Amino acid sequence: MTPQAVREWVREARRIVVLTGAGMSAESGVPTFRDAQSGLWANFRPEELATEQAFRAHPSMVWEWYALRREMIAKVAPNAGHLAIAAFQQRHPGRLAVVTQNVDGLHQRAGSPGVLALHGNIADDRWLDAPRACCDAQAPEAGTPPRCATCGNLRRPAVVWFGEMLPAAELEAAGEAAARCELMLVVGTSGLVYPAAGLARSTRGRVVIVNPGATDLDDAADALLAGTAAALLPLLLDEERNP
Ligand code: OAD
Repeated sequence: MTPQAVREWVREARRIVVLTGAGMSAESGVPTFRDAQSGLWANFRPEELATEQAFRAHPSMVWEWYALRREMIAKVAPNAGHLAIAAFQQRHPGRLAVVTQNVDGLHQRAGSPGVLALHGNIADDRWLDAPRACCDAQAPEAGTPPRCATCGNLRRPAVVWFGEMLPAAELEAAGEAAARCELMLVVGTSGLVYPAAGLARSTRGRVVIVNPGATDLDDAADALLAGTAAALLPLLLDEERNP
């Protein structure tokens, strides 16, 4: 299947879902999850850091890992792929829904409306344990999570960790969008993490995978486009562009 043929599918589809993963932001300079880690965390897999258990056992280490990611994300910008999606949504209001596993907020910063962020947003915090009346975050020492001086409750990143439920409203809306769409573009995800990956298996629409490598969802695809998000999405979504 060629990008030109998929452009035709885009033109025909009244409802489109773009399901994105970490590879969507790779060309903005955000490392993907399953890239090799470096530094202090070289010996940990994300699955070992991104859990409540890890945070309770090593709050400062996990907080620092997120602090570094937050700092890095604050410095990067949406790439041509994010911008092509947002521009399509502006030209065709209500026709394309973005469902993302990314917590970097780059779709939102590109101008995409109504992004369904299944794994939360890294810029936000919340209390680790249900907050009590005393809970008030104190300025932390550098490298430690803010805590309540009275009960010790900690602030944690408001992202979905392994073993946690996804936000119900977002998941439901994403399921509905997937069920209704005629075309789903699956961009930059390894397809290994559920329930997000299940959206590509549950849709009755055509499934197109945009990824430079193989993914766990390739068997569910009607077309595989080998290439990057920033190179291919403008080609697929910008009608003005010559193929
Ligand atoms: P992964 O790191 O598992 O996969 C990234 C995918 O992006 C791979 O398939 C790469 O081939 C592809 N890729 C790399 N560069 C790309 C580019 N420029 N354009 C397009 N694709 C590219 O990331 P996710 O699938 O997003 O969950 O991981 C899913 C979830 O696992 C994450 O949301 C996170 C993680 O643990 C939670 O934190 C709950």
